[in-house]
Amino acid sequence: MSTVNQKHFLKLLDYTPAEIQNLLDLAARLKTEKKIGVEQPRLSGKNIALIFEKTSTRTRCAFEVAAHDQGAHVTYLDSSGSQIGHKESIRDTARVLGRMYDAIEYRGYGQEIVEQLAEFAGVPVINGLTNEFHPTQMLADLLTMKENCKKSLNQIAYTYVGDARYNMGNSLLVAGAKMGMDVRIGAPRAFWPNDDLVRQCRSIAEQTGARITLTEDAAAAVNQTDFIHTDVWVSMGEAKEVWRERIEQLKPYRVDSQLLAASHNSNVRFMHCLPAIHNRDTGIGQWLFEEFALDGAEVSEDVFESNASIVFEQAENRMHTIKAVLVALLST
Ligand code: CP
Ligand code: NVA
Repeated sequence: MSTVNQKHFLKLLDYTPAEIQNLLDLAARLKTEKKIGVEQPRLSGKNIALIFEKTSTRTRCAFEVAAHDQGAHVTYLDSSGSQIGHKESIRDTARVLGRMYDAIEYRGYGQEIVEQLAEFAGVPVINGLTNEFHPTQMLADLLTMKENCKKSLNQIAYTYVGDARYNMGNSLLVAGAKMGMDVRIGAPRAFWPNDDLVRQCRSIAEQTGARITLTEDAAAAVNQTDFIHTDVWVSMGEAKEVWRERIEQLKPYRVDSQLLAASHNSNVRFMHCLPAIHNRDTGIGQWLFEEFALDGAEVSEDVFESNASIVFEQAENRMHTIKAVLVALLST
């Protein structure tokens, strides 16, 4: 099943639009197979190492369930229960795991770490989130948008609002550029993806027909958009105090019913990679309320719980799309 001509899955920039489309088609096929109960294990006897230097619910569970469904085994490694990140370098870890496993997933910090793993492991390496990119999330987001819109991918418009400097903002920009979509970023200038990446995406867009807009005007960014995406405002390990200024800077980009209305599209859908801060149910949500009287941060509770919200379909699709990556890279 050679749907991609790639050894690793490190970032969408490495993939052609056709390869990304092939992964989406494979994910849709695998999803249907599972739903109708005819899934065939294509990864029997394979072993996959899952390195998580940062915590996870969706990504870890998606890898574990996807691997299990396809007959593969996994080993979960975090920094407290292994030598990774303190007693042993990534380079040595790569060479050890590469001799025991058929593939390695890595979630953690800089993109250079996952690139180094790939250089030394000798087996496929999959990026389960770095500071810069979240490519498996992109497959889930593209599949979810396709499933929730009658248009073809290249006719779909979507907007990311909030802090666009890190994994989610960067990755959504790249995904839209690659797939020829109408991709908008609504954020203060200082929160846009870095100029090099924007330049790279604009040049990809010249080939794919993508339309790329970066604006500080949240209402303009969502005008006639089909999907509004956001992410937590603080997620890069910053001190809690950073929230104080971040709230001031990003409040105009909070996804609430007013912003949804500014899309002038009654079918607009809300998306979020999750976890989200949308009420007081989590420690940080409670703290934001007590400290700043902020009930939910990047998204309001009414939007999160509305019919426009497709965040749990998006979460489910993490599993089907990660399964597609495993099958594409590992099955013979
Ligand atoms: N969206 C996502 O990556 O979720 P987790 O952090 O729970 O894996
Ligand atoms: N920006 C978030 C994304 C989580 C999926 C983080 O890096 O934690």
